[in-house]
Amino acid sequence: MKVISIVGARPQLVKLAPIAAAFAGTEHQHVIVHTGQHYDADLSDVFFTGLGIPDPDVHLGVGSGSHGVQTGAVLSALDPVLEAEQPDWVLVYGDTNSTVAGALSAVKMHLPVAHLEAGLRSFNRRMPEEHNRVLTDHAADLLLAPTEEAMRHLANEGLAERSVLVGDVMVDVCMRVRDSVLAGGQPAPALPEGIDPSAPYLVATLHRPDNTDDPDRLATLVDALADLPVPVALLAHPRLTARAEAHGIKLNRGALRAGRPLPYAQLVAAVLGSVGVVTDSGGLQKEAFLLGRACTTIRPETEWVETLRDGWNILVPEPGELGRQAWAATATRPAPEVPQGTPYGEGTAARTVVQVLAEH
Ligand code: UD1
Repeated sequence: MKVISIVGARPQLVKLAPIAAAFAGTEHQHVIVHTGQHYDADLSDVFFTGLGIPDPDVHLGVGSGSHGVQTGAVLSALDPVLEAEQPDWVLVYGDTNSTVAGALSAVKMHLPVAHLEAGLRSFNRRMPEEHNRVLTDHAADLLLAPTEEAMRHLANEGLAERSVLVGDVMVDVCMRVRDSVLAGGQPAPALPEGIDPSAPYLVATLHRPDNTDDPDRLATLVDALADLPVPVALLAHPRLTARAEAHGIKLNRGALRAGRPLPYAQLVAAVLGSVGVVTDSGGLQKEAFLLGRACTTIRPETEWVETLRDGWNILVPEPGELGRQAWAATATRPAPEVPQGTPYGEGTAARTVVQVLAEH
């Protein structure tokens, strides 16, 4: 069996790591195509080196652009690659512009497409990712779902027959890296300057267009983070840095200390060393849950509803409206004592994915 993985953005590289490892011990051929949607070393290269992912076989180098330009560039650059490779499966990951472009290019060539992390829904049609998910699920031939909830969404959309529950590959990689961090096998995380790793601190990220692109909203959110009673290590995505700079919003003030995004193992170490997480990232909500830290999510909804159980994750779309004390109490609350359970599987999803692809 020959499988082409199409990836391009940071969260896809994290999911690619366990998939590439699961293919490594088999007779199957696994080809990696990097679209180049993320091109900064901090968002791309460090994931290949840090997670031991083989170098991409093909790099499309599309870079940034409006949604249409970026999606279209991936689409037209992929056609000749898929034409030449003629894989048994095209495997697309998650919900980015690279995902929907990969799926579209493949189905138009009558190549079978599998969607990893199928069935996630925010039901928020303002999110570009929501359109990418829905369109990809309806185009794909095989839907690899991470959770029971995702399976229900797919069934509700008439896609049950094409859906298989495989578990979440992020558990595979997160647990492996956690064990290596706890065993002392990883360097200390490069936290932003001014964060003392031996004192309590929060880990924060903010990158969703809905939070970063409107200057007033961004200023309000940065104020709320800066106002917290515990130092906040802000691991700034390039979109955040660029928007803050463009709007004259200072990221280093009050409790806030801004630094660069971290390689995966350092991120895991940073979360393990923290007293909690504040974020608008999908992946980080789940990593906080898996690593046993309370998470506060600056969004009106989440796709990862399992994290909300027992208060492991709390949604605060408008921190400014909560009142200063309630916001501080929420963001700095301790992790719940109730165990998280294993709604995302046991960490063997990648092997299941390879099996399911081979069987189909
Ligand atoms: C993308 C995904 C999002 C995912 C996120 C993870 C889409 C629609 N969005 O969002 O689902 O959660 O990746 O990081 O596909 N930039 C750089 N260097 C880079 C990449 C981006 O400077 O390596 C800057 C560019 O100015 C660009 C902006 O960040 O315009 C946004 O990048 P883009 O890839 O469009 O989306 P993300 O916000 O990263």
